[in-house]
Amino acid sequence: MIKTISKAATLLQDGEVVAIPTETVYGLAANAFNDEAVAQIFQIKNRPLFNPLIVHIKSIEYLDVVATNIPPIAYQLAHTFWPGPLTLVLEKKSNVSTMVTSGKNTLGVRMPSHPVALALLKQLDFPLAAPSANPFGYISPTTSEHVRSQLGDKIPYILEGGSCERGIESTIVGFDGNKPILYRVGAISNEEIESCIGKLTVINTASANPEAPGMINKHYSPRTKFVVSEQIAEVVLENVNRNVGFLFFKNENFSLPSSRYIELSDTKNLVEAASNLYAAMHRLDQMNLDVIYAEKFPDKGLGITINDRLHRAQEENFEMNITL
Ligand code: TXA
Ligand code: MG
Repeated sequence: MIKTISKAATLLQDGEVVAIPTETVYGLAANAFNDEAVAQIFQIKNRPLFNPLIVHIKSIEYLDVVATNIPPIAYQLAHTFWPGPLTLVLEKKSNVSTMVTSGKNTLGVRMPSHPVALALLKQLDFPLAAPSANPFGYISPTTSEHVRSQLGDKIPYILEGGSCERGIESTIVGFDGNKPILYRVGAISNEEIESCIGKLTVINTASANPEAPGMINKHYSPRTKFVVSEQIAEVVLENVNRNVGFLFFKNENFSLPSSRYIELSDTKNLVEAASNLYAAMHRLDQMNLDVIYAEKFPDKGLGITINDRLHRAQEENFEMNITL
């Protein structure tokens, strides 16, 4: 492991792009202080330049190197949730390339908790800009194999870190003065954040307007047609004999062959379901099904995050020849 981390560090020091594990999803990382290295991330992912990247740092103290005018509640959040799956949007310092922030003067930044990511960051004297390591618009990778099958021929190295424990992207919080604003629901539930700093203002993250920070809609989509259903029992009955697959929270006694469905948590645990979501979507997408029907989750805790990702997957299916 030490050898592989050093290999990744050397490549990153040379301005290369390397896939790295984090506790949320695998990231496509480059030196956040090196414009040319960061430009390659956009190119490899086919990502539009207006969609800013998240910067990964090795410690809370390092925040001062990349951000300024940091509000007190941002520190409160960092001390509560870092290292971990929370991204803070803060005023950036000039050493961070505007390539990373897509010309904005704000910066998304987080300290990851994955031990391999942290060990790597500690070997470097720069932070790592890293979006999720998937082609733009496709499902995020939660194993090195997902990265290999999607981008393996485009990057010199994938640092192995096992399956991502959280399996879903970080929650993104920004600030208007000392007022917290939720930009993206993620691995930390809104309730957890609110219990730390009080009521969050939620901005419309469903907006496709690139001027609005947060996310664009066309994200997380499998290539197979993907439909979210609030009446999954009826949909199962209607489709038993068709070439369709199902994504369940738990299979509530539907008699289907095991090759036709995946359940995300047999104990109906939302944290477990979130951690299994993308791997299940990847698997279903490889099964040559005509349609994937996903059960809508309860609108509480991480169920809100899971529903957000399911709806984005449904929104617009990924097109192979996307040109941006
Ligand atoms: O869990 C995660 O956050 C993973 C791992 C690799 O850390 N990264 C990730 O990156 O999900 P990505 O690029 O797939 O999503 C980053 C999101 C984008 O939707 C972007 O719009 C938002 O972060 N973002 C980045 N900088 C921002 C800023 N200054 N203001 C608002 N949103 C920002
Ligand atoms: Mg992404």
